[in-house]
Amino acid sequence: MGVPTKEPTIETKAVEDTKSIGNTNSPKTKKKRLTTTHRISLGDVTPNNLGQLKRLNSVLFPVNYSEKFYKDVLEVGEFAKLAYFNDACVGAVCCRKEPIQGTIPEQTKLYIMTLGVLAPYRNLGLGTTLLTHILHHATCGTPTAPKFIEIFLHVQTSNEEALAFYQKYGFEIIGTVEGYYKKITPPDAYILSKKLVKNI
Ligand SMILES: CC(C)(COP(=O)(O)OP(=O)(O)OC[C@H]1O[C@@H](n2cnc3c(N)ncnc32)[C@H](O)[C@@H]1OP(=O)(O)O)[C@@H](O)C(=O)NCCC(=O)NCCS
Repeated sequence: MGVPTKEPTIETKAVEDTKSIGNTNSPKTKKKRLTTTHRISLGDVTPNNLGQLKRLNSVLFPVNYSEKFYKDVLEVGEFAKLAYFNDACVGAVCCRKEPIQGTIPEQTKLYIMTLGVLAPYRNLGLGTTLLTHILHHATCGTPTAPKFIEIFLHVQTSNEEALAFYQKYGFEIIGTVEGYYKKITPPDAYILSKKLVKNI
């Protein structure tokens, strides 16, 4: 969705962990190394930890999300997740389902509203863990949760880090929306899409 705005300070534990993985501002070329004591896991978003998701998003994105955003996030099941580095909550993904009007049988796209990892924890595979989880659940249809035909999102045109990340996982730029963002510069967004069903 957007660009990172400021360095995170929300978790004392997270900062301690950062010291142990070293190199908190490493450029992409300096790959961080995980040790066996480092554990990446995902957890559900629940009413009890919704505050944690709100704090993460306020650090990660220059956009204030509404109460409705967070109410809806509680309803999407596997399509909203928190990411943990050891026991510290350092990343999250939030999606929404978008039915396509007039299609029979009804087809649905999945829209990634936010996907982010706190800066000191990037380049460790957390973003991949979150995205892989979403792609898995978007493509393993069941009778009650049919497959999605496409997954898409907006990325600010200047956000090279996110572009490289999504392109690595097969997303393509399918359009540009000028003036998509109202309060940040540049205001333009690419639409990134990955088709999940062939021949559409
Ligand atoms: C995009 C983002 C989620 C990636 O998270 P991450 O945890 O660093 O991702 P991973 O460690 O799983 O990286 C996976 C791949 O992404 C690509 N990538 C990630 N960061 C990159 C960077 N700075 N430059 C180039 N490629 C990058 C690489 O191909 C990497 O593969 P590699 O490890 O084999 O080199 C993270 O940069 C972020 O939170 N950005 C701010 C929020 C944001 O803009 N979100 C996108 C809009 S919703």
